[in-house]
Amino acid sequence: MFEVEIDASVSRAERYRALETSLELLLEGESDALANLSNAAGLLAQSLDRINWCGFYLIRGEELVLGPFQGKPACVRILLGKGVCGTAAASRETLVVPDVNRFPGHIACDPASRSEIVVPIQENGVLRGVLDVDAPEPARFDEEDRNGLERFVAVLIPRVAWGRL
Ligand code: SME
Repeated sequence: MFEVEIDASVSRAERYRALETSLELLLEGESDALANLSNAAGLLAQSLDRINWCGFYLIRGEELVLGPFQGKPACVRILLGKGVCGTAAASRETLVVPDVNRFPGHIACDPASRSEIVVPIQENGVLRGVLDVDAPEPARFDEEDRNGLERFVAVLIPRVAWGRL
């Protein structure tokens, strides 16, 4: 078992750096897509405080389809361009949404979610899916989270055999 402790005494930037190292260690020597995405979701859930959902949506044709996650069961299919996930995927840019109730077309999987961050996953220019993290409080995510989670995704991308999903 891979244990992670949230150390509140260190800065968030340092915690994100430790998270990158943990991900590298956790995935070392393994490239199975389902296993590595599952462990990445588990690691995030253990490492981030004040969140209620984290996981992946993966590209299937013109849709995103639910992938490995931690949290309550969620909506399975999201069209590209729809909701926070579909909008981030279509624009290929990270979306930080401080208040999901003010985001037109937000898809409420868990009514407890109040803010959200979605990071697109692109492997050599090919869109593979998104990482989605939800929080039960408004404005949970900021630029530091954007940087930290974009780096997390950057570490993840070469360690997943995306073509075999
Ligand atoms: N809120 C997302 C849907 C996914 S769930 O939050 C897990 C959206 O609007 O795309």
